[in-house]
Amino acid sequence: MCGIVGYIGDKKAKPILINGLLKLEYRGYDSAGISTLENSEISCVKNKGRVSELNDLAEKQNLDGSIGIAHTRWATHGKPSSENSHPHMDNNKAFSVVHNGIIENYSELRDFLTKKGYHFLSQTDTEVIPNLIHYYYFQDTSDDSAKFLRAVKRACDDLNGSYAIEVISSLSPDRIIVTRKDSPLVIGKGKNENYISSDIPAILSFTKDFYLLNDNEYVEIFKTGEKFYDRNLKSIKKDLKNIDWDATAAEKDGFEDYMLKEIFEQPRSIRETIGSRLRENEKTVLDDICLSKEYLASLNKIYIIACGTAMYAGLVGKCLIENLCNIPVEVDIASEFRYRNPIIDKKTLAIYISQSGETADTIAALKLAKSRGATTLAISNVIGSSITREADYSIYTHAGPEIAVASTKAYTAQVTLLSIIAIYFAETLGSCNKGLLNELKSDIFKLPEQVEEILSNLNDLKAFAKEVHREHDVFFLGRGNDYAVALEGSLKLKEISYIHSEAYAAGELKHGPIALIEPGITVVSILTNPLLLEKSISNIQEVVTRGAKTLVITNQELKNYSFDMVLRIPKTNPYLSPVLSVIPLQLFAYYISKEKKLDVDKPRNLAKSVTVE
Ligand code: AGP
Ligand code: GLU
Repeated sequence: MCGIVGYIGDKKAKPILINGLLKLEYRGYDSAGISTLENSEISCVKNKGRVSELNDLAEKQNLDGSIGIAHTRWATHGKPSSENSHPHMDNNKAFSVVHNGIIENYSELRDFLTKKGYHFLSQTDTEVIPNLIHYYYFQDTSDDSAKFLRAVKRACDDLNGSYAIEVISSLSPDRIIVTRKDSPLVIGKGKNENYISSDIPAILSFTKDFYLLNDNEYVEIFKTGEKFYDRNLKSIKKDLKNIDWDATAAEKDGFEDYMLKEIFEQPRSIRETIGSRLRENEKTVLDDICLSKEYLASLNKIYIIACGTAMYAGLVGKCLIENLCNIPVEVDIASEFRYRNPIIDKKTLAIYISQSGETADTIAALKLAKSRGATTLAISNVIGSSITREADYSIYTHAGPEIAVASTKAYTAQVTLLSIIAIYFAETLGSCNKGLLNELKSDIFKLPEQVEEILSNLNDLKAFAKEVHREHDVFFLGRGNDYAVALEGSLKLKEISYIHSEAYAAGELKHGPIALIEPGITVVSILTNPLLLEKSISNIQEVVTRGAKTLVITNQELKNYSFDMVLRIPKTNPYLSPVLSVIPLQLFAYYISKEKKLDVDKPRNLAKSVTVE
């Protein structure tokens, strides 16, 4: 999920690779490494930590080749460590591979290779790739120059998941082979040299001419040329594209801001969070978590503790776990929980959600529950983060690095993961009928495409945001899960537009806040639960009557309404609707912030990771 660089030409590869990795640092990573090829020998240096430290190490070694591959790792499988850093090699050190993404079926592939006599030095999913390539290379009895390519292709045919990979081999020392699926990769063309990268900015200072690779295409890259192939290794032609971005635009992949880029990354981050955990007609697999039926049945309470957006994701988790597992769930703000003497015992499971895994209040709340005998489970986006080191168990969202201060893709990944956890608990307990669980699974699998659909039609929302961007008060209303999303929508708007905003459970309006409703106020309502539809429509009518401007986000059929704007989103199970209904809310806040010409990515007074109280 993090960064790849490659070089083949006349120059020494090492400084070019290090330069490229430094340009990718902004994405966040935990380790880095490079391999170069010289005189048919592969040299490799890799390390947990910064690229500058890698550079110091590389200086001490003989890495003089002019063919090389490099990587910054953002761990998904196996903690950040020197052994888990890329490049990874096969047991015979004939192939060296860097990989971005996740191999979902790596454990089956490991078993297969182990039976064939291979062994593994790391805990990564990636290490199966060079060994599979080695296996297929020596299965192939013909001896022509395409043997290396065929071996890479046959290995990739076995992989499920997402990947962008670069491979070099001491057996074919004149080329780099690359391919991708659901993970970016580009080739930069120079004169008698070629560059490779997962992100254009890493090599933009060397060339402006790029080949953009599509999924399942293979490329053999030589010093003086490149050969492109489709998924069946049929030769194809590709056009060069001139990219004249400046360096900052390039870091954002052509998007204006990190926040917008991250909003658009959600189909992929949801897909990667689902990964191979959820299986149709089979039991859900949750990484290394092993909570027995007896243990789950013994629980008298589950706490979900977090701050900000992560806490709002927790509210959606509460609804799922209570309904599917019949265990009471209490959601609390970490900074309150840690000082309020909560009732905890051995029958308590405490779940902590933190994108960064470094939020001080959440960590303190975790330590408290642990010291009182609860079992603790951390949900984080960063492998090896403090919270995951403290917790008894950890599960990761695979959202990739989130750079914008306002959290977007981490939220949808957290809600997706909580729904998977709820299903896993329910399956283990046998607490819910299989029909509902299967329906939920099939709806979860549809989420990435449904998010894509929402992202493909944004003009009306943009126009509405423009219309209201000068206003001073915006209210968000919803019931049930729609209320949980209203809270998140309101937080997004506050954070990046500096407009005062409140979220209310729609039924609470008439108990006080309705006194504030008058012309000049905007009310955003979320309506996705058919059972609560009539009641919520009445609440919206009450604000229309009092002169408020109304935006309704819904997947229901609304008849005879008099709302200013109705934005339709795809239908899904009401337990999952927050993953879809939050997308327009993220964009509503974003467009308003842009209209106001504010710094979307770095709003005033806020930090990405709140590591102090
Ligand atoms: C979200 O947009 C916020 N910036 C903030 O509420 C954030 O979610 C909160 O600080 C928790 O962060 P964490 O997930 O890294 O623990
Ligand atoms: N899944 C791989 C690993 O954990 C690659 C992660 C990445 O994209 O950096 O090593």
